[in-house]
Amino acid sequence: MNQFPNRDAIEGFLNDCERFVPHVERKQAPRRAALHVLAFEASTRTRISTEVAGHYLGLDVISVAGPEATSLMKNESLSDTIWTHAALDADIIAVRTPFEGGPRFVAEYLQRVPYLQEIGHHTTIINMGDGTHEHPSQCMLDLRTIKQKKGRLDNLIIGMVGDLKYGRTSHSLIRALSKFPQNRFVLVSPSEAAMPPEYLDGVEVLYAGDDLSQLATCDVVYVTRPQVERIQDAIEREIIRRWFVITPRVLNRLKPDVIVAHPLPCVNEIDPRIKLDPRFIADRQMRNGLNVRMYMELQALATFTLLSWEVPFPNPIIDSETTAADASEKKGKYFRPITGDEIGVVFDHIPVPMQNGVLDLLKYYECLEGGMKLAADPVNSEKLSSEYGGEKAVILLRKRIIPDEIVAQLSYVVPTITISLFTGDGQRRKVNKCAIPPMISYFKCGNPSCITNNDINAVPRLYTRDDGSRLQCHYCDRIFLKKQIVRFGI
Ligand code: NCD
Repeated sequence: MNQFPNRDAIEGFLNDCERFVPHVERKQAPRRAALHVLAFEASTRTRISTEVAGHYLGLDVISVAGPEATSLMKNESLSDTIWTHAALDADIIAVRTPFEGGPRFVAEYLQRVPYLQEIGHHTTIINMGDGTHEHPSQCMLDLRTIKQKKGRLDNLIIGMVGDLKYGRTSHSLIRALSKFPQNRFVLVSPSEAAMPPEYLDGVEVLYAGDDLSQLATCDVVYVTRPQVERIQDAIEREIIRRWFVITPRVLNRLKPDVIVAHPLPCVNEIDPRIKLDPRFIADRQMRNGLNVRMYMELQALATFTLLSWEVPFPNPIIDSETTAADASEKKGKYFRPITGDEIGVVFDHIPVPMQNGVLDLLKYYECLEGGMKLAADPVNSEKLSSEYGGEKAVILLRKRIIPDEIVAQLSYVVPTITISLFTGDGQRRKVNKCAIPPMISYFKCGNPSCITNNDINAVPRLYTRDDGSRLQCHYCDRIFLKKQIVRFGI
């Protein structure tokens, strides 16, 4: 700061700045829209075509290639990094990240930033690929290419070959193509790299296995590279890496009018002799990357869709209402000190191994602050089967009441729990059973690469499916059994 020797120099700068800024602030002056392209994973085609598309449209293009030069290297979260770009006037942020569900999360997050709301600045997020999850812009260019070559997007037999587990492009493509009538799929991969069930909802699969000859009836064969950099297990990695090569012999056994598509990069799964064969259409796909992304960016400027954020919680079913006095008189093997017109909550019938989890949950929702918790010594409980260890814990929360949302989550997570809410008017609301909450946000998603396990601002959101026995992550789409998830939290 030596160039500003005294207060006058500093204030002089600030005052001049006040006069100058209104003339150049982007909001005052007409400006070109800004596209920020943030490739936090390796990218050639997607990043370059996204940028070239932006230049052709006359956008201001800011490009960040690789996380190395960013504060991500200082452990800044993805959402804070993107928040910065939004605050610096990015109208579109195209992002590639290893964190699954990251683009969706940051799009929701930006909608909730008060300053951006105040100045009315909207930023549209384009997902350029999020870990093993999805790659929607690639999908649109794949679809355009297939349509150009086949004249239709329905009534096709589509072969998907290669690493269908870790490759995100086939995930988006199968989801999109299964929305068209009469499309059927032949999924060829080693079992270690099979298509995950999350992507097979409503998909008609003719064959799933490791036999390349099953591709003989396909109109389109979509080949993907082994995603070696994503596979943790060394043996699995080797199996997937060495698994197959599309050679001229394999190609010649396919339908004569087949097209072989590949999102690229290809490593050794495509024999070099095939690269110049007219049935191999990867160059057309690349080219379509440019025009499809131009249109996608135009759309991103023209429309801004609010993503749904809030999920309503059902009211807990209240099993019985008694007076607080009745409740405290009830003779039990433990002491229940909340009486009369006191405010508080009694959590009863908690299996002992889940006790700390319940306390963690209450702490997370800041319910323990200002109140007092007391856990009685564990006592045997007839209500708890041996599955839960037979012993129950009781937790008392004084001077606090908890919102229905937490009541519902706790009842879902700890099925044996009974919750008595003392509202201070001598009444006790006792909750034995609750409707299954549509969403659970306390448990961590079981996928280590999910944005919710990698970004300090992200709150898990797991939708309950079926009868509540399965949970699906709102961000990375992975489905878990409730039993599997419970291990991560309680
Ligand atoms: C793909 C990707 O990054 O998912 N490449 C691309 O965007 N064209 C495919 C891959 O890396 O295998």
